Amino acid sequence: AKSLGDKKEKTLAMIKPDAVDKMGLILDMINQKGLLVTKAKMVLLSRAEAAQFYIEHQSKPFFNGLLDYVTAGPVVAMELMGSNAIQAWRDLIGPTNPSDARSQNAQSLRAKYGTDNTRNAAHGSDSKESAMREAEFFFPSTGPARANTAQFTNCT
Ligand code: TYD
Ligand code: MG
Repeated sequence: AKSLGDKKEKTLAMIKPDAVDKMGLILDMINQKGLLVTKAKMVLLSRAEAAQFYIEHQSKPFFNGLLDYVTAGPVVAMELMGSNAIQAWRDLIGPTNPSDARSQNAQSLRAKYGTDNTRNAAHGSDSKESAMREAEFFFPSTGPARANTAQFTNCT
């Protein structure tokens, strides 16, 4: 149910390769929306890692093209926290297809920085279940302590 608990909802955001050079502007949008970046990292995904991340789409005709795109350069993965973070971030990025995004709201991230249905600048989890799976993918909680990994704890 929607309640006060949603204030600390978390989602997984990913800036895709051709929008990484807009990271500063995207962080400004995140800030303006009242979302907090609680974890972040830049990583170059292997094809196998990208396939795992997008496993739900493995049988889709666009799967291979999607993997080509998201492995073409580094991505920035972020865990965002805030009131209804999952929907708030999806609202901020806009519809999957940037041309739809541009006709709907020219201020959305995909409207501003997306190119086509594949090169659409950003990813956002679509449910609590996918948010948990996708955050665990980029920021695993199990395994040995990682000395090079810090976590923002001011608000948890
Ligand atoms: P999807 O989960 O449908 O979109 P969203 O990212 O908005 O949740 O699809 C995942 C990604 O797959 C999408 O961001 C871009 C890519 N994709 C294509 O390349 N072609 C397509 O026709 C679709 C629907 C998606
Ligand atoms: Mg999706």
